[in-house]
Amino acid sequence: MNNKKLLAPSILSANFLTLEKEIRLVEKAGADIIHCDVMDGHFVPNLTFGPSIIKQIKEITNLPLDVHLMITNAEQTIDSYIDAGADYISVHYEAVTHLNRLISYIKKRNVKAGAVLNPSTSVELIADVFPILDFVLLMSVNPGFGGQKFIQGTYNKIDKFNEMKLKYKNDNILLEVDGGVSLENSKTLSKFGVDMFVVGNAIFKSENKIKTIKEIIENINK
Ligand code: DX5
Ligand code: ZN
Repeated sequence: MNNKKLLAPSILSANFLTLEKEIRLVEKAGADIIHCDVMDGHFVPNLTFGPSIIKQIKEITNLPLDVHLMITNAEQTIDSYIDAGADYISVHYEAVTHLNRLISYIKKRNVKAGAVLNPSTSVELIADVFPILDFVLLMSVNPGFGGQKFIQGTYNKIDKFNEMKLKYKNDNILLEVDGGVSLENSKTLSKFGVDMFVVGNAIFKSENKIKTIKEIIENINK
């Protein structure tokens, strides 16, 4: 069974010129995981960073790294993210041809493996890999940018995820939600069954980041 709810600040919204300071701040405030958004300018219309930055982040923090791959060539480059120190890796259903093979490989290398679904992708489409997944990441915005509005249809998808969790008897599978998560909706999302909360703008663009992090942690654990 799943216990503690996990907060994963997304550094996409952080100031990259002072990234170490931002990471120290989220550590101090009690965040559980660092969410790293890898974008290739092909799968999504934006570019971020790759394995070398992830490796540098790994060297300065003990928090687990959650690497969200928004790239078209995850099957060819997966080792570089694992070797860089990723603790969780999620790959998009829409971008991977041999999903079962890739998920199995990530797990074999002792990294938690997740499948990510865009807002328009049905949860049923991952039924065949559901029993072997460590987590599912539901995108609650169209991937590519921070600061977008939460898509309400995500709640139906969470219900569907919960049904599948029972149907496929994968008790330990975690549910992560990414995009538009805020102080306001985090409590409801937690009640719906979300385990891991990715939060970008709501933390890094807030006036008091430490206070916001603490309030979100309180909300999700209520
Ligand atoms: C969007 C990224 C998200 C993003 C979330 O493509 O996957 O992780 O940083 O940012 P907010 O919380 O601002 O929507
Ligand atoms: Zn993300």
